[in-house]
Amino acid sequence: MKTLTISDIEQLKQEGKKFSCITAYDATFAGVISDAGVDVILVGDSLGNVIQGQKTTVPVTIEDMEYHIACVARGNKRCLLIGDMPYMSYATPEQAYHTAALIMQAGAHMVKLEGGDWLHDTIAGLTERGIPVCAHLGLTPQSVDALGGFKVQGRDSKQAKQMLADAKALEEAGARMLVLECVPQGLAKQIAQSINIPVMGIGAGVDVDGQVLVLHDMLGISPFQAKFVRNFMADAKGDIKAAFELYHNEVRAKKFPAAEHSFD
Ligand code: KIV
Repeated sequence: MKTLTISDIEQLKQEGKKFSCITAYDATFAGVISDAGVDVILVGDSLGNVIQGQKTTVPVTIEDMEYHIACVARGNKRCLLIGDMPYMSYATPEQAYHTAALIMQAGAHMVKLEGGDWLHDTIAGLTERGIPVCAHLGLTPQSVDALGGFKVQGRDSKQAKQMLADAKALEEAGARMLVLECVPQGLAKQIAQSINIPVMGIGAGVDVDGQVLVLHDMLGISPFQAKFVRNFMADAKGDIKAAFELYHNEVRAKKFPAAEHSFD
């Protein structure tokens, strides 16, 4: 089975087709997610919340990420596999090169990091060194203390302008994908239309190029259900693989997220 690459996801954007992504942290779920036809797996530092029971992603270490990425890589059959760079592991370009090497050697096909245009040189350096980078704007959970909590980002016009400028700067630096988390639907649409790289949303409405959900959220087993989450496990009558297939099909058909899962 051919493994999807970032070029395949870029092609989907060019064809106007949506792509799906679910987070995973172990080999068994990675295998079922791939078998269900999902396009991308993200080994997110959300493992701090859903695996380790932490309140934030701040305590997650590079070693934690390497361990879970290696587990997922062993179970993955065809998905593009993105690995998160954890908190303060890319504070300087040199640190980022070191962390990215460990994340890629653990089995990721692409690294993800959180932040705006301060990451320009880091992303350019990683790109020059042959490492595909996914950027992440909006609600960036590693900065939750600076943001003052888990809140929708980009609601005022100054913030919105800055986010659009950041997205353009990150694309210019060489980022090949962008995650937008908890961003008003209209702003997310404007960003996705203003840059050529695929934009993957979580709480960013339907008008971006792909969607990502945290595994435990979409299976309905997280203690709290955010507005942007749909319980696909309930809709699939408790069949896990059917829940992944339903999610993938609903994303492709632009039926998820609906207005009720999106922010104004
Ligand atoms: O860590 C994670 O799972 C993420 C997604 C929420 C995008 O970054």
